[in-house]
Amino acid sequence: MAGNAHPAKMWPQIAATAIARYSKPGDTVLDPMCGVGTSLIEAIAQGRNAFGVDLEPEWVEMARTNAEAAMAAHPGVRGEVVQGDAANLVSLLADTGLRGKVALVLTSPPYGAVTHGQPDTSRVTGGKIRNRAHRYSTGKPKPESLATSSAPRLQAGLEAVFAGCLAALKPGGYAVVTSRPFTEAGQLVDFPSAVIRAGIAAGFTLAERRVALLSRWDGAKLSPSVTFFHLHNVRRARAAGKTVFARAHEDVIVFRRPQ
Ligand SMILES: C[S@@+](CC[C@H](N)C(=O)[O-])C[C@H]1O[C@@H](n2cnc3c(N)ncnc32)[C@H](O)[C@@H]1O
Repeated sequence: MAGNAHPAKMWPQIAATAIARYSKPGDTVLDPMCGVGTSLIEAIAQGRNAFGVDLEPEWVEMARTNAEAAMAAHPGVRGEVVQGDAANLVSLLADTGLRGKVALVLTSPPYGAVTHGQPDTSRVTGGKIRNRAHRYSTGKPKPESLATSSAPRLQAGLEAVFAGCLAALKPGGYAVVTSRPFTEAGQLVDFPSAVIRAGIAAGFTLAERRVALLSRWDGAKLSPSVTFFHLHNVRRARAAGKTVFARAHEDVIVFRRPQ
């Protein structure tokens, strides 16, 4: 899969579980902020048609490459990726015939401009440990990016995206949104609650709220998966006497378009 440079990919197991649970073969799955296309790959692998949108051309290109590889492995399924602002979903879908036809929206909005990324150790840098793949754009992010939005703009942006998702879904269709709390300026931001508020404001009903543990299970032991920099920050804060916890989960919010 192309996409090492992307900072915040969805865990394929979360995408695969949501697709199996909330759609069936032949359905269409839409991801309005698809990044490098994890949800699209998993949808195609399960015999669903997939439609993705992302704002940043570099991720669109990678998502197209990934969707094409998935389609080659699973013939008979359609996959398409377009570049655009998910706040304009209704016009992006205008010529696709998908309005009101999508069975499942599966997406993960960005949380904050910078993520933990991946470490380059001192063996690679020859000096200090360096962060890489931690930004939502390797160039200058586009002004419409939800990743660089202030909290009120992010809330309004999410509402606009979810309103488009509601119009894309068939009645009774599901929207599964993964998100997680993040820390900004030393404060914990309850992003999942903001996602729920935005979905309800857009006209969805909240069907379920679940938690996906980001962990490895070897049959005997559950080992949480925490990024190098997150663990480092938590250890430093604890050493300074603060009560902080490492986060190793995603909130999985399930909305439904009313019948
Ligand atoms: C958390 S990432 C999604 C990653 C994706 N699930 C994957 O596995 O690659 C959020 C994505 O939202 C995109 N994004 C941010 N603002 C957007 C907007 N207004 N319209 C469309 N995409 C946007 C970012 O470019 C980023 O790729």
